[in-house]
Amino acid sequence: MAIRSQVVGCGSYLPLRVMSNDELARTVDTSDEWIRKRTGIRERHLAADDEATSDLGLKAAQAALEQAGLAPDDLDLIVCATATPDETFPATATRIQAGLGMTRGAAFDVQAVCSGFIYALAVADNFIRCGQAKSVLVIGAETFSRILDWEDRGTCVLFGDGAGAVLLCAGEGRGEAADRGVLSTHVYSDGRHHDALYVDGGPSTTRTTGVVHMEGREVYRHAVVRMAEAIDAALEANDLTPGDIDWLVPHQANLRIIESMGHRLNLPRDRVVVTVDRHANTSAASIPLALCEAVSDGRIRQGDLVLMEAMGGGFTWGSALVRW
Ligand code: ACO
Repeated sequence: MAIRSQVVGCGSYLPLRVMSNDELARTVDTSDEWIRKRTGIRERHLAADDEATSDLGLKAAQAALEQAGLAPDDLDLIVCATATPDETFPATATRIQAGLGMTRGAAFDVQAVCSGFIYALAVADNFIRCGQAKSVLVIGAETFSRILDWEDRGTCVLFGDGAGAVLLCAGEGRGEAADRGVLSTHVYSDGRHHDALYVDGGPSTTRTTGVVHMEGREVYRHAVVRMAEAIDAALEANDLTPGDIDWLVPHQANLRIIESMGHRLNLPRDRVVVTVDRHANTSAASIPLALCEAVSDGRIRQGDLVLMEAMGGGFTWGSALVRW
């Protein structure tokens, strides 16, 4: 019988501090109107000075475990997607492991920037399918505020901090239960596009952390094409049509990109989960944050077909299809 990675819990955490567009416009030459019109963003959450990525990830992880009714030592693996680790090493996932009090299994990070959650989900799903793990915590956690140039209006208005976690367990159910879980993941990258979106620092080049640089139009142009391709790949691999999808949970970068993906699937607006207005772009955390919101408010229900897609620096991009 085929093993499937079934979702048994999810959790999220947003730092308490909220920064509105108006507040941002007091320190950088921008306006609430410009930001809303071009991106759909109204506000973002920012981590406190003493709050690290692992602190956000830990809170999301604890919430996911609690929802699933599992203990830390029930886990075999933690995969944390982040582009803003606490330190160059060790992996932020190991800090979360220690914070949970998990004394067995393994923990490591995955780095694919805004596509990180899709990549981490793909890694976790493959560990489960091949029998190497039975329960995996997949976390997306970011403190993007730490790598922003707060004087660059072209980038600093776009991002926020947060974390989300999804707990996967191996399921071998029969009948309907056998169809639940991760149905497919597709991941891609094309490193030739480095210059369109990158951070100008790192241990082996500048020995500093650096800040985000982005050619917004170039990223936008590629995002709509690449994410559409990833959606098509997911539908084709599962022999589905857009009409079969119950929910689109896209990476939350820009409302215009999100709406164009929803339009492509011919989904009514209320079937597309949107958090970008309140969270801005939280990179690898954006999809699990949106997923958790839609699960906890009762929109996504057991049996629903949920399509996720993302694109980020690299470029990296991908999709995942999950029967909830
Ligand atoms: N406030 C006011 N004006 C601004 C701001 C701002 N925050 N930022 C840029 N501008 C100005 C520019 O200087 C420019 O002025 P000019 O015409 O006098 O030169 C003008 O607005 C237009 O700038 P563009 O960059 O061409 O604006 P665009 O319509 O492309 O919108 C944006 C920019 C929102 C970044 C858009 O390109 C975008 O969303 N791209 C996708 C990028 C993205 O989502 N990146 C996230 C990471 S990757 C991912 O998650 C998919």
